[in-house]
Amino acid sequence: MSVPANRQLQQFVRQHHLEGLTSPSLELILKGQTDYTVEKASRFLNFQNRISHELLKHRAITRNEYTAWFKKGEQNIEHLKKFIVQFSIFSNQFLIAQLLKTINADSIEGMRASKEILANEIGVVFNSSKNAKRSDIKNFDQEGDPQLVATEGTVEGGIFHFRAAHFEWLLRISSKLGLGFNDVGKRKHGTAATLFFCDELARLYGSEVYQASQAASYAVENWAAAGFWDELIEGLTKFNIRHHMDLPLAFLTWHSRLEAQHARHTQEELEELYFTRSIREDDFITYGNQMLDGVAAFWDGLNNQRKQLVVFN
Ligand SMILES: [Fe+2]
Repeated sequence: MSVPANRQLQQFVRQHHLEGLTSPSLELILKGQTDYTVEKASRFLNFQNRISHELLKHRAITRNEYTAWFKKGEQNIEHLKKFIVQFSIFSNQFLIAQLLKTINADSIEGMRASKEILANEIGVVFNSSKNAKRSDIKNFDQEGDPQLVATEGTVEGGIFHFRAAHFEWLLRISSKLGLGFNDVGKRKHGTAATLFFCDELARLYGSEVYQASQAASYAVENWAAAGFWDELIEGLTKFNIRHHMDLPLAFLTWHSRLEAQHARHTQEELEELYFTRSIREDDFITYGNQMLDGVAAFWDGLNNQRKQLVVFN
């Protein structure tokens, strides 16, 4: 969260008890921008308080038993295969939810923001000064390598590489585990828990109902920023050492870097949403919790699978 930098803004915050609001919103209130009033800001801070207590304490964010186990690195290859299969289904089905979100956007800006994510997901590399220079890319096989592509920028003018599709990054891990193309990614391989999660993503994140898609987005962003990528990275790093393997981690490290940037914007986006739209607070909390129930079901499914493997191994 950004802290108001100048003294005038700090004084304004103290005078109106607006501590907790991000600088962009405060600046717009101070400027007298339409829809940005002190009264609305106070209502937002109460709403934020509700969100903190009634949404962000969801166990999908605060208590992920599966990733807590995964990060210890004690999994065997069968555990890992099962994880990769379910995660690859989520990765593919997420495309459907993201396409629905794009189609159901209520403004051209919203549509483009969703399209950025969708296009990047299928292989359009962000156009950014932080991309590796061509001279850094040693051979054709490295084009689209997640270690070399930027996590920020825009797909506008970006270059498409088949190999930059996030699903293909996952394939590079799965092939090292002996899984073929048709062993991963398909709904027929999904557990009931994984499919429930994917269907909830399409229903809520991709919803035609604006309130639902915004609440689900906010919930998903907060889940993604809660640290599960780093737990997966820690677990796989230990696994590689223990099993003398070199499973490529860049799929995970790229997403971890991406989320670190998203987390900074999530709060500002929520405030913009609140000030510029009429948010029904109860609905937002309800839809957000439904989305997180879906997330929790996915990890619970994986957790049950790994417990069964211990019993039958
Ligand atoms: Fe991705």
